[in-house]
Amino acid sequence: MTDSIRTDFISHTFKGQRSPTLLDIDVTIRAGEQVALIGRSGCGKSTLLHMLAGLLLPTEGCVRIHGRQVTRPSEKWNMMFQKPSLYPWMSVADNVGLGLAFAGRKDPQRVAYLLELVGLSEKAAANPQSLSGGQQQRVALARSLATSPEVLLLDEPFSALDAFTRSSLQDEVSRIAREQNLTMVMVTHDIDEAVAMADRVLIMAANPGRIVGEIQVELTSPRQRATPEFSRQREALMTSFEQLVGGETTAAEEEEPEQAGKRKAA
Ligand SMILES: Nc1ncnc2c1ncn2[C@@H]1O[C@H](COP(=O)(O)OP(=O)(O)O)[C@@H](O)[C@H]1O
Ligand SMILES: [Mg+2]
Repeated sequence: MTDSIRTDFISHTFKGQRSPTLLDIDVTIRAGEQVALIGRSGCGKSTLLHMLAGLLLPTEGCVRIHGRQVTRPSEKWNMMFQKPSLYPWMSVADNVGLGLAFAGRKDPQRVAYLLELVGLSEKAAANPQSLSGGQQQRVALARSLATSPEVLLLDEPFSALDAFTRSSLQDEVSRIAREQNLTMVMVTHDIDEAVAMADRVLIMAANPGRIVGEIQVELTSPRQRATPEFSRQREALMTSFEQLVGGETTAAEEEEPEQAGKRKAA
């Protein structure tokens, strides 16, 4: 397998800050690999993911995707956020086709195919506001896939959903990513989510944000959650996480809960 994403000793210090938020992140992700990045709130996961997406440039080092340096966003590496942010004045189908329309390549057939892929063919003409949270997230997924990205970047995309919707979407996104041979990097603070979706889990510690370890998830897909193997993998990840990250608290967790909530919502 070829390398898809390489981070070349990325460090990052935000303007006005004395200490780095990220330090020496040196990661290689193979094409078609599904990687989860776990760590406590505030350790720098979103910052790193934004760099993979080309939304933020590191102060040191660089990101390469298929050997090309990432300096800006591209339709070849798409990011999906926690909030689906669909346009309420457009139909579901038009929301899915948005990236294609922007690129001057309207393609109703591809939109129809994507709606079928995420199980929403019957909702093509609907207003996104009439859909459930899980369905809206499926529309956002279809939109992210429209331009045939090689890399899909997910930043805690299911954390606003109820438990049942969340696990069915985790399975669906995994299936689609595997079928389409996408390279996927998913940020999460949910150990179950990492075990349910990833081939490999990178463990991140805070202050400065750095990768302190990784474990391979030795499970076949689709993943069966109610099996001893799944429980064993979850235990193994939990143990590694505790050993490597331990009881450290991050700046975000030390804030007043109300403040931290506001920052998160911002
Ligand atoms: N634009 C910014 N300017 C200054 N500090 C920032 C900025 N964005 C994030 N940070 C800080 O960087 C750290 C990591 O944030 P983030 O990547 O959002 O963490 P995570 O996604 O793991 O919760 C936090 O301490 C946060 O306050
Ligand atoms: Mg985050």
